[in-house]
Amino acid sequence: MSKSIRFIHISDTHIGPTKDFKLYNVAPYPCAEKIVDYLNNLKEKPDFIIHSGDVAATIPDDPSFKNAQEIFSKLKYPVYYVTGNHDRSSFIKKYLNQGDRIDLVTDVSKNTYYFDLKGYRFIVLDGRGPDTIDPHGSLSEDQFKALEQEITNGTLPLVIFIHYPPIELDSLWLNKNMLLLEGDRLHSLLKKVGDRLLCVFFGHIHRGMQIVKDGVFYSSIGSTFMQFAWYPSQEEPVMESTGLSYFNYVTIEDTQMTVKEYSIPNGNNYFLKTRRELAS
Ligand SMILES: [Fe+2]
Ligand SMILES: [Fe+2]
Repeated sequence: MSKSIRFIHISDTHIGPTKDFKLYNVAPYPCAEKIVDYLNNLKEKPDFIIHSGDVAATIPDDPSFKNAQEIFSKLKYPVYYVTGNHDRSSFIKKYLNQGDRIDLVTDVSKNTYYFDLKGYRFIVLDGRGPDTIDPHGSLSEDQFKALEQEITNGTLPLVIFIHYPPIELDSLWLNKNMLLLEGDRLHSLLKKVGDRLLCVFFGHIHRGMQIVKDGVFYSSIGSTFMQFAWYPSQEEPVMESTGLSYFNYVTIEDTQMTVKEYSIPNGNNYFLKTRRELAS
């Protein structure tokens, strides 16, 4: 029988090249500092932390990843990273310390791997595709093959992490711009796994949400600095500063997974504005 396991899901920290760098009028660096400090002082310690991508701000570069390294190296737990559309896997590998893991594919340009803990298998997929499809994601053929092999031959309960949502999300803007291009293929594969697949965690959409489709459970978490509002008929993004930084505290015990959303104040004021309004 598997033992209980606990981990924390954070996402979309968007650290920039300077500590006072602002994105959508909010500085991400102090928000990330606050959440790192808060997580380090949790009484109930997690087994690890997963960051589901967009570690860095708009354009990944050395100064942004040096700042990310400075903040996240303070975390007192093993940390794993998923490559977001604003990251590059080469920067993640160069600057960020990740927990013990085994590469899933031979392509070293991908940050795709698995790790086993207490009788569970955790798989991280790298959906960062060419710039021409950004901010959509795309999964390479060799990652699909590795996943098919795991699904056919593996026996451990599975948890999957990917930056991009593979399925539609009841939003014109998200569905048009933000999904994994091979989402249908991935979902078709995952729905065959059955009870062995516990959850697919993702980021990218800067808001916590849960979806169940064909028995597959998908879960995301908000950003540490800025949320997106996307009601069904919205055709362009709206930035929502809630003044809160979000994380999920996830517990798996035997075949039950419990996902609890928490938030802490990040010192910013509330606003709801389109990109155009923010630019004016
Ligand atoms: Fe993001
Ligand atoms: Fe993203």
